Amino acid sequence: TSRVFSGIQPSGDLHLGNYLGAIRRFVPLQDTHETIYCVVDMHAITVWQDPDDLRRATREVAAAFIAAGVDPKRSIVFNQSQVIQHAELAWVFNCVARMGWMQRMTQFKDKAGKNSEAVSLGLLAYPSLMAADILLYKATQVPVGDDQKQHLELTRDIAAKFNNDYAKSIADQGLDAEFFPITEPLIAGPATRIMSLRDGTKKMSKSDPSDQSRISLLDDADAISKKIKKATTDPEPLPETVEGLAGRAEADNLVGIYAALSDKTKVEVIAEYGGKGWGAFKPALADLAVAQLAPMSNEMRRLIEDTTTIDAILRDGAERARAIAEKTMVDVRNIVGFIR
Ligand code: TYM
Repeated sequence: TSRVFSGIQPSGDLHLGNYLGAIRRFVPLQDTHETIYCVVDMHAITVWQDPDDLRRATREVAAAFIAAGVDPKRSIVFNQSQVIQHAELAWVFNCVARMGWMQRMTQFKDKAGKNSEAVSLGLLAYPSLMAADILLYKATQVPVGDDQKQHLELTRDIAAKFNNDYAKSIADQGLDAEFFPITEPLIAGPATRIMSLRDGTKKMSKSDPSDQSRISLLDDADAISKKIKKATTDPEPLPETVEGLAGRAEADNLVGIYAALSDKTKVEVIAEYGGKGWGAFKPALADLAVAQLAPMSNEMRRLIEDTTTIDAILRDGAERARAIAEKTMVDVRNIVGFIR
């Protein structure tokens, strides 16, 4: 069977990009795959997190998974730091991966900026922990947004180099030569890269200083509706064909959001709204977004308060994750030559 793994950082407000690019897509995969969804708290601390904020954000991500339709009985839902094997495998990968690979990551370069000497060592090693997340479970598919593509390529490089560096030992242990699988990214659909509502050239992100740039998953109906109606657009009506969205970043973004929220393609959305003006499209999008997001946001708010339930779900998920992870680590320790 093929196994799906994905992770979300508890590092601030979850937004529509996280939902459409990742969380919403986690739900149907439960019908066809074994699914593991992780709140990556160890990744979050690669930049400073206030401990109380980290706890709250961890529960918020777990609540978002569940409110969106992830079933913690069918899927494994847990926070990364409870399964210490993630850190253990990440260390081995730190010794397999090369410095140059890490320094070339665009996300590292963006986050480190000019002052790359002053960022945490963890920020540089971030992709190595991410590879460990995925490969501990020998996950074959990873649903993510477009911005994670380069990290997933690195995960494949790390798997291949480990399999190659330790090929003899893997064979000596009687294990499959492709000990770590070469993971396939699942980056598909109309919403792999949701852009800011203020500026169609910038990605919607947790770190944008403008609250108007993103729809938070905790926004109420009124806020959702207002932000969509105020979203920046050009003055032209919607094009008659999807090809006409090229070069119109804001229009393309809003059509993509509509498509993702209604489980349609952009072609289908344009078939319905092509030639219509923003005065018709924006209220329709606002209604759709409110209908889809407001019930989820209410459920999230309710769940976040119920810390006992959320913490029990994370604990149970961690126990199930640990059982799989430890099996992999028993082999890894033998392959590497660690005596037990
Ligand atoms: P993170 O926490 O930044 O984002 C979580 C998920 O949301 C997607 N995403 C977007 N999708 C579309 N449009 C956007 N504007 C947008 N912004 C964010 C991200 O692509 C991601 O899928 N490194 C990961 C977390 C991680 C992980 C993993 C993911 C750690 N280990 C293992 C997969 C597998 C990250 O920082 O995601």
